[in-house]
Amino acid sequence: MFKKLDILDEKDKRLRMVSDDVTLPLSKEEKKLIKQIIDNLTYSQIDDLAKKYDLRPGMGLAFPQMGILKRVIIIVHEYDEGKFDNYVVINPVMLSHSEEIIAAESGEGCLSVNREVEGHIKRYARVTIEGLDLDGSKIRIRAREELSIAFQHEIDHLNGILFYDHIDKKKPFINDNSIRLI
Ligand code: NI
Repeated sequence: MFKKLDILDEKDKRLRMVSDDVTLPLSKEEKKLIKQIIDNLTYSQIDDLAKKYDLRPGMGLAFPQMGILKRVIIIVHEYDEGKFDNYVVINPVMLSHSEEIIAAESGEGCLSVNREVEGHIKRYARVTIEGLDLDGSKIRIRAREELSIAFQHEIDHLNGILFYDHIDKKKPFINDNSIRLI
């Protein structure tokens, strides 16, 4: 059965804290929560269901956004129309990244930030993420473009960083050759 998530708002201090590494195994409740997060993120990206359940579209969430200060991130990526890949990464670390820098042309959004924040955020075009899956096995994920941005955005949440912290207030839009807008 579908259950809408309670997501902390940006004003909540827990979003500014550094989360702890997870000791496996996860509890039954935590596993249930992960399933609920995947459902919410998936539904939020399907128009009919997003409307039905009044969900704001989003492709990623991190445990601290649910008030749990543990290093778990979940991303649901629509890699093709109506086709989704789920990524659940426990204790994620960025192993390596490209030299190339990109930014989402229309800026980033966050399910904890219920307002538009304009500006470009510099992100690596490609990243390699390592961590553990739900069974505790080591996994390595190579991500590029918007998926790469999503991983960097979600890992930031584990360190108490929100996307707009990266925006240069004096010059929110970058229009030089140092980055590629996607
Ligand atoms: Ni976010």
